[in-house]
Amino acid sequence: MKRSKVLVTGGTGYIGAHTTVELQQAGFEVVVVDNLSNSTEDVIDGIEKITGERPRFYMADCSDLESFTRVFKEEEYFDAAIHFAAFKAVGESVREPLKYYRNNLQSLINLLLLTSESKKGAILFSSSCTVYGQPDKEHLPVREDAPLKKAESPYGLTKQMCEDILSDSSRAFGERIRIISLRYFNPIGAHKSALIGELPRGVPQNLLPFVTQTAIGKRDKLSVFGNDYSTPDGSCIRDYIYVCDLAKAHVAAVERMLFKPGEMESGIEYFNLGTGRGLSVLEVINEFEKATGVKVPYVIAPRREGDVEQVWADPSKANKTLGWRADTPIDEVMRSAWLWEQRLASNS
Ligand code: UD1
Repeated sequence: MKRSKVLVTGGTGYIGAHTTVELQQAGFEVVVVDNLSNSTEDVIDGIEKITGERPRFYMADCSDLESFTRVFKEEEYFDAAIHFAAFKAVGESVREPLKYYRNNLQSLINLLLLTSESKKGAILFSSSCTVYGQPDKEHLPVREDAPLKKAESPYGLTKQMCEDILSDSSRAFGERIRIISLRYFNPIGAHKSALIGELPRGVPQNLLPFVTQTAIGKRDKLSVFGNDYSTPDGSCIRDYIYVCDLAKAHVAAVERMLFKPGEMESGIEYFNLGTGRGLSVLEVINEFEKATGVKVPYVIAPRREGDVEQVWADPSKANKTLGWRADTPIDEVMRSAWLWEQRLASNS
């Protein structure tokens, strides 16, 4: 039987690479497009080492319609596309909003334009729990029908705007093109082989890379941004989800669009991807130390501007509809992140 062919934009990025691995292991043919603005082509080698298959790779910028069109021409068709390619640094988006609006919106619009030229299509979009802003207490854990609050940053607004663009497009396309938007909570960890993982450029903005870099001695100490929030230990709460569990949800969502489209509630669906369990920053440090036996020196620092106090997912819709669950134990996830950091250190 002919394998279904999936386009993965941003496929050399953190979540994109892990998803490419899971797709290949589930039997899909994968084509990766990435402009390498926040990754390197070595990631393709890592993917090949894990799966034994090298995904076809195009270095192209999805926000440039001409070069993106060339990929579609060369490949002739895709059964589905997963759109990861986007900028994601909250702070940078505040300093350079236009960079974010241009890249994140234009790339998605181009993908929709190119997909709409085929008779059939399926698009999976990388969204974020950032679309909920700080949910009211009665909406925690967050379900998909919780109100979307005003975005805290241009980055967050691009995710909301992209979801609007998708929902308008879905109405116009009808049954012809299926769309699923996956709202990620906080992805962490690395593939157990330690051949792919998160590659922050410069000083990491996200918590786990900062934790592992501090543990290995690359950073003196971790700053815990605020311990005066109204949470049990005063630090912020998030729903940390193992990146390989997250990647597997993409396989389930692609399969739903391709093989069970009649089961979709409408042309577009939304799913929260999280574990359903919130962890505070201090609990994350503690879990890491317990799992690895390595101490993480930290200090309490002022709150970080724009941070949401607490948010975690109600993943029951994804659990039920996609038959998927994020169930990797946290100690295993922490060890995977640590193994990856050690591998990076041994290569540098
Ligand atoms: C945010 C967005 C998420 C987005 C991601 C992109 C929310 C709720 N989440 O994640 O949708 O995809 O940015 O990067 O808006 N922390 C420290 N010290 C550090 C780093 C982080 O204490 O050095 C704390 C933060 O204050 C936060 C938690 O760790 O409470 C997680 O932070 P981070 O990993 O940056 O992710 P979010 O800000 O939750």
